[in-house]
Amino acid sequence: MQSTDKEFDLEIYKKEFVDMKSNQGELQKESFLNSTTGFFRDLEVFEYLKETLKKEKKKKIRVLNIGCSTGEETYSLAMVFQEVEIDFLIFGTDINEESLNCSSRGAYEKVDLLPLSKKQKENFFTCVDDTYFVNKNLKSKIMFLKESINHLKKYNEIDLVVCRNLLIYLKKEVQNTFAKDIHKLLKEDGIVVLGKSEYPEEFDKLFDNIDFSKKIFRKRKL
Ligand SMILES: C[S@@+](CC[C@H](N)C(=O)[O-])C[C@H]1O[C@@H](n2cnc3c(N)ncnc32)[C@H](O)[C@@H]1O
Repeated sequence: MQSTDKEFDLEIYKKEFVDMKSNQGELQKESFLNSTTGFFRDLEVFEYLKETLKKEKKKKIRVLNIGCSTGEETYSLAMVFQEVEIDFLIFGTDINEESLNCSSRGAYEKVDLLPLSKKQKENFFTCVDDTYFVNKNLKSKIMFLKESINHLKKYNEIDLVVCRNLLIYLKKEVQNTFAKDIHKLLKEDGIVVLGKSEYPEEFDKLFDNIDFSKKIFRKRKL
């Protein structure tokens, strides 16, 4: 979020969301809203997802990508869906307005695209003056929205939730509410992907492991 973003109140954010014990109360706004990301970050997760989706033979999926930052994760998902020929709609959400603007623009430097194959660059980007722009057909299936992780009630019938590297800072209560909220908004066989070191306590009750080491889970029927 821009330092000029007047809507953001660090004290309210800390009080509502942040686990101050683990974060020792020292972190600044920039740390909570740190936008570190990349295309195909933890490649094995995307490969696993690709194989799982191929087997499931779904025709269309609705995806919620929470904490999407500057869009690389969202566009990586979109490329995977396109490659396995699944029609899709992705909601990419974040509270950092500046990052969301980058996501919507979909413009990246050559170095950002290093994890992509030549074919992926050709198929999904157009290069103008050394800047790589995400093609319209991919962008048209993605909506980027300024939304916080605790405002998920409007979503339903979601097939896949991807929320990585955001929960780590958050209070246990916020993490557990998140677990309950996504259990509700997912379809019966819905899948969740978390960051490598993230696992809310409530997950034990609400989700089954597809692959625990990759933090990929399936909604449990209760
Ligand atoms: C480290 S980035 C992770 C980006 C991406 N998910 C990945 O793993 O590559 C964490 C993102 O979470 C966002 N974020 C922090 N608090 C949030 C909240 N309460 N609701 C939604 N997004 C939030 C930050 O703005 C940041 O873009």
